[in-house]
Amino acid sequence: MLLLALETSGEVRALMVSSQIQMHAEYGGVVPELAAREHLRNFFPVATAALAEAGVTAAQLDAVAATQGPGLPTALLVGFKAGQAVAFALRKPFVGIHHHEAHLYSPWISGTPPRARFDQFQPNVSLIVSGGHTMLVHVEDELKHRVLGGTIDDAAGECFDKAGKLMGLPYPAGPVIDRLAEKGNPKAYDFPRPLLHDSNDDFSFSGLKTSIRYFLRDHPTLLEHNETLHDLCASVQAAIVEVLVQKTLRAATRLNVRCVTASGGVTCNRALRAELARACERNQFALHLAEQSLCTDNAAMIGILAERKLRHGGITTLYDEEIAPGLQLA
Ligand code: KG4
Ligand code: ZN
Repeated sequence: MLLLALETSGEVRALMVSSQIQMHAEYGGVVPELAAREHLRNFFPVATAALAEAGVTAAQLDAVAATQGPGLPTALLVGFKAGQAVAFALRKPFVGIHHHEAHLYSPWISGTPPRARFDQFQPNVSLIVSGGHTMLVHVEDELKHRVLGGTIDDAAGECFDKAGKLMGLPYPAGPVIDRLAEKGNPKAYDFPRPLLHDSNDDFSFSGLKTSIRYFLRDHPTLLEHNETLHDLCASVQAAIVEVLVQKTLRAATRLNVRCVTASGGVTCNRALRAELARACERNQFALHLAEQSLCTDNAAMIGILAERKLRHGGITTLYDEEIAPGLQLA
């Protein structure tokens, strides 16, 4: 995916997504070399289209930002180096952005046209949940955060995708399971809720995946009937969602914040959205879920965070700094 957004005082002027999901679906996952080539091929046309939609010329930009890490090195390299080159050519500041830190701000972007609502900002516990990451972060203030915990093995989205693969569903299986689960009974089959009762804020999903594998080995015919397939999807989804919701709410309660936010591809999941809403209402927490279109990786969150960094102390990145594929959020 290659993305580009432009914003002025919190307003997203253009947001383009060039998805490669179809191409990677053929291989059952992302192929790094192909991703990099596609990014390169798409960079100029997408950048040109975004500038046209925003109604500005490159010379009118105040700064250029790109994701520095973490992520696939080959994919990061294209966007980051191209961003640095453009900033250098335009003699504008360049801002390298931490992928996960940017996710913390996407739940605050809403409306048409999308705008960052920082006037509503309040300290929160943020759940970042996607195919590559699952983590809880305490966001004490704008640009001030502390990681509480993360997955010690598979991410939640990875668990959806691997469970789906075992069930013979296409990649990425998360949205397919979401759809099939709608008609199923979430209590039909009892799958483990890993680390649910541990007092830390960490997650683990590989054991759940293994238990699904053994369950399917012992009950292969469940996949042959729509009704049992729906029940299976609903039960797997319920196990993942319960862990995510309960651990998020527990962290928020412990830290005495009054707000929960969530972003990342898995936040598109309707059961997760509904259960988070229910739990937050019960506990009188404000809830800010990233809008469906901004749950997945997007340039709006990168641009918004870059704008905050420039505004608060003019934090910029050198033109010759390197990508950081393994960059950890502190
Ligand atoms: O944020 P994202 O687009 O990419 C990264 O992983 O960074 O997240 C993709 C993940 C995939 O694992 C996909 O299966 C999952 O998000 N996903 C969902 C849903 N939509 C996307 N999982 C469950 N239910 C969904 N509706
Ligand atoms: Zn992400």
